[in-house]
Amino acid sequence: MFNLILFGPPGSGKGTQSEKLTSKYNLKHLSTGDLLRNEIQSQTALGNEAKKLMDKGHLVPDEVVTGMISSALDSNQKCNGFLFDGFPRTSAQAEALDRLLDLKKAPIAILLALEVSEEELVRRLFKRGETSGRSDDNNDTVIRERIIEYHRKTSPVAEHYQRKGKVVMVKGEGSVDEIFSALCKEIDSRINEKHD
Ligand code: AP5
Ligand code: MG
Repeated sequence: MFNLILFGPPGSGKGTQSEKLTSKYNLKHLSTGDLLRNEIQSQTALGNEAKKLMDKGHLVPDEVVTGMISSALDSNQKCNGFLFDGFPRTSAQAEALDRLLDLKKAPIAILLALEVSEEELVRRLFKRGETSGRSDDNNDTVIRERIIEYHRKTSPVAEHYQRKGKVVMVKGEGSVDEIFSALCKEIDSRINEKHD
């Protein structure tokens, strides 16, 4: 089993690259943002509570996302590995994920961190906000708040995996295909190592 985290600030291209990577390496894509938006769409109690926080650019509580990830791991026992997108986003989430993967004897193999300037992040999110219908994309204050949350609560996740020697930084600006190639190069050099 090959488990990887695709890491980076809002708008860094995690979702875009995840689609290509999961298809190439036959991994299960787990995006907590997508799972939460599905809950909102279905108007569940969890979705209604999460929406209030997401619309302000704030994170939803750790227990909520960790619970969703735990169920997803249980219902995909046979897959080749997981690509985590937008999770873990706090130190507590990283610790919870490590515990869940320890039970499977399949720890995180690599954290690939997309590096994109703040100016470019804001530009991309605003542009997407014109068409996406995502309520957290069309407001400058909310976009900035998402980036502040990232620096305040999410960047420690990279330090957590840095201490385990798992972090690789990849330039997240350029064409989608160039960035995809750079990510594949890093994965290819590790995927045949023994991880289970
Ligand atoms: P989430 O859905 O995870 O959003 P995000 O991390 O804020 O980032 P995005 O999904 O907007 O960006 P991305 O990095 O996936 O980039 P994308 O490929 O889309 O989270 C949303 C909210 O849910 C959070 O704010 C929080 O409230 C909550 N949440 C989610 N997970 C949570 C967790 N674990 N704990 C607590 N709360 C959680 O690309 C962005 C745009 O750029 C697109 O338009 C794309 O077409 C374009 N683009 C991509 N690549 C390029 C390129 N190379 N050049 C030019 N444009 C590009
Ligand atoms: Mg995304």
